Amino acid sequence: EKDGYPSFMEKEIHDQPDAVANTLLGRADSHGNLTLDELRVDPEVLKSVNKIIVLACGTSAYAGQVAKYAIEHWCRIPTEVELSHEFRYRDPIVDENTLIVSISQSGETMDTLMAVRYAREQGAKTVAICNTNGSTIPRESDAVLYTHAGPEIAVASTKAFLAQITAAYLLGLYLAQLRGNKFKGEIKDILSDLGKIPAKISQILEREEDIKSLGRDMADAKSVLFLGRHVGFPVAMEGALKLKELAYIHAEGFAAGELKHGPIALIEEGQPVFVVVPSPRGRDSLHAKVVSNIQEVRARGARTIVIAEEGDTDVTAYAEHVFYVPETPPLLAPLLTTVPLQLFAAALAAAKGYDVDQPRNLAKSVTVE
Ligand code: F6R
Repeated sequence: EKDGYPSFMEKEIHDQPDAVANTLLGRADSHGNLTLDELRVDPEVLKSVNKIIVLACGTSAYAGQVAKYAIEHWCRIPTEVELSHEFRYRDPIVDENTLIVSISQSGETMDTLMAVRYAREQGAKTVAICNTNGSTIPRESDAVLYTHAGPEIAVASTKAFLAQITAAYLLGLYLAQLRGNKFKGEIKDILSDLGKIPAKISQILEREEDIKSLGRDMADAKSVLFLGRHVGFPVAMEGALKLKELAYIHAEGFAAGELKHGPIALIEEGQPVFVVVPSPRGRDSLHAKVVSNIQEVRARGARTIVIAEEGDTDVTAYAEHVFYVPETPPLLAPLLTTVPLQLFAAALAAAKGYDVDQPRNLAKSVTVE
């Protein structure tokens, strides 16, 4: 059932083109109209939403953080992302115009379930993004948007993460569509770009040996840092989480802009630093800023491993290794840039002899608070 892969995790990393494709399947017509009929929430109710709160834990919360950038950009609805266990205990502001979007692979995470229950009691509408049919969180929500990643067996989440981002993007586009079709042309274009993501993930997987051999070479690293900006920031945190979980080494993800406010003090000779670089075609000057971050850590002796868009030659001068991902619009980049980080963590952990499917101290479903 591992399809010839040495672990479920490796299989599930390779399932990702299908996970994204299946999550997109049947959810838009050929004119680019989203048809999320399964949501069964009165569109009028969704139109009156004036605030979105995404509730999730762990990797699922990073999917929420990625989605926040897209939802606010497309819908202009203020969107917060909060860890379920923090939300519940801080007297949050929630009312009937608040849309709660929970994200959970298992649908059984107790922290998230309790947070959703609490929000519902306050009158909020609740939509669950979930990978497990008939699980508790969707049953206790007003509506559900299933991710179709297929069962995820490995404890560390991979394909569910990409499917969660995809589903959250569909929800964001649907809300944008409901709120006046202003973004119509754009919605169609984004759906078409989303449709191209599975083939691009496959292209990354064809070159997996590059990043896996790097993972094996770095098996004795004591600490690895990850930097990113904009949607690359939650990707950096997800890359760090995978490494902590699987390889039991210290890893941390930072917003690259935060570097000079403290974390740069950590950089010494030989410190591995991954940098997730935004597209050079993106807005503002983010690309140039991140390239200068690479330069700054490199000048202090860091080993720089750069994830950049194909054709980005600005990064090569300061990178010890560059791993290129195919071109895609900036908001969709996490669906690609995450993949090499997953492969790196799995290869490094396997090189240390660890069981990547069953990391110590962790359970697949966390059904206690
Ligand atoms: C990380 C991981 C965990 C889960 C978290 C939430 O690889 O698997 O951080 O993402 O426990 O689980 P779900 O999505 O089932 O609510």
